[in-house]
Amino acid sequence: MSVQPISSPTETVFLSMFLCQRCPAGTRTTKHSMGFCSLSNIAMADRHGEDSPYFAGWKAYDLNPYHPICNPTGIIQMGLAENQVGTDLLEEWLDKHSDIPSWKGTRTSFKEVALYQDYHGLAEFRKALASFMAEVRGGRVRINPDNIVLTAGATAGNEIITFCIADPGEALLVPTPYYPGFDRDLRWRTGVDIVPVKCYSSNNFEVTLPALERAYQEEINNKKSMKAILITNPSNPLGLTISPQTLTTILDFAAEKSIHVISDEVYAGTVFSSQPFTSILEIIQTSNRYDPETVHVVYSLSKDLGLPGFRIGAIFSSNPKIITASRRMSSFSLISSQTQVLLKCLLSDGGFIKRYLNTVKERLRRRHEEFVKGLKEIGIECLEGDSGLFSWVNLRKLLASGDWDSEMKLWIVILEDIGLNISPGRSFHCEEPGWFRVCFGNMSDDDMNVALGRIRLFLASRKHEEDTNLLPRPEAPLGVGGTCAACLVDAEQQAESLTS
Ligand SMILES: Cc1ncc(COP(=O)(O)O)c(C=O)c1O
Repeated sequence: MSVQPISSPTETVFLSMFLCQRCPAGTRTTKHSMGFCSLSNIAMADRHGEDSPYFAGWKAYDLNPYHPICNPTGIIQMGLAENQVGTDLLEEWLDKHSDIPSWKGTRTSFKEVALYQDYHGLAEFRKALASFMAEVRGGRVRINPDNIVLTAGATAGNEIITFCIADPGEALLVPTPYYPGFDRDLRWRTGVDIVPVKCYSSNNFEVTLPALERAYQEEINNKKSMKAILITNPSNPLGLTISPQTLTTILDFAAEKSIHVISDEVYAGTVFSSQPFTSILEIIQTSNRYDPETVHVVYSLSKDLGLPGFRIGAIFSSNPKIITASRRMSSFSLISSQTQVLLKCLLSDGGFIKRYLNTVKERLRRRHEEFVKGLKEIGIECLEGDSGLFSWVNLRKLLASGDWDSEMKLWIVILEDIGLNISPGRSFHCEEPGWFRVCFGNMSDDDMNVALGRIRLFLASRKHEEDTNLLPRPEAPLGVGGTCAACLVDAEQQAESLTS
């Protein structure tokens, strides 16, 4: 067991993930010490990937969340890819349809949702989801509801499709930088390995044939069996769609190597550029060059509809064996019937869905434009994005040196001294230090402007200050600080519930 002292508050949060409950405070272990009743290797293995700054930043935020009135010097959460720009529209719709599901009316009987559901999900919900998925893809794809397997979010969908395609020790190719959750979802319980397809800023991190060949060959030399390539389109963290040409390159490569293609399209409805989004389904359905049974899409309503708490996901595949096996596995992660009933009604309201999608895209476009412009004004460049809830920001010039250590140090300074939780590129397996993913879809315009103001102040101070670790946190504006009405109500209610 190696023991090291712990230093800064952020490091404490980060390292607490490795703390053994039995060891004295202030020490950490690199090996889990077991008692007499041992646990499974799968549960204890560190393949879950959650020991990264991506997740540590969320914990740091939870300990000191920003609030414009109650905690104006707190941490602003810019590390969570949440779509809150259309929440008001959903609330409006729910207000108008507060009778759904109504047990008294004829619409849905209580029994229908209270008793066991068949793991195919409610047929009407699958039908509504299929037409929503087609709508988000510009109406240019055919989605047969029978080829949809419902899962509790894309997290479960990605794990299930991996379980169906690969055995422990086999591998999936995944282009970098990629969503940190994949280390958990694709690898942890499945025992499957991720082989990175290394992409670089020189061509905007585009996937190329030589990069695919290099990754594939390396793993074949290591005697690994490669089963699939998993792409994310639009990409998290790049906030960029994959071009039809690159999709064709990927499909050709996969066909030549006889491997599957999985396309995670959870951000399909966030494309805000004038160029339409091209789903991989559009390409395989308009060409007879590819075997449709080898191409699978993972989707959810977490991002496009801003409903991550509802846990609604789906696997779409034209492969009957995959559909059957996925459906069996989905028993572990079903969506509650009540959620399906509510969402069936929402998704079947064609007029609302059109308005929602158009409004959200326009709001995201504007938010993205203002954010990128704000950064540009202070000399910070972003990758030119066209989608998503975040920007891929280049902070390389702020690194003390060009290595990973300095990226980590900058992340800690930004978290602790500026009070922004953004996510360092290393946690996305980026190959070049200095890139950060910064989310803008989970906050108000005002909060984003506060965040931009903090970055501006930080850069101005850096000009005069060599030692960035000593920078003061921006002060709360005079006269501000206290408790807002909403928090007062919360606090009073909490106090009441404690005394009652
Ligand atoms: C690319 C990608 N796939 C899957 C997920 C997980 O989505 P869900 O909340 O539907 O499980 C995320 C969440 O951030 C993501 O970015």
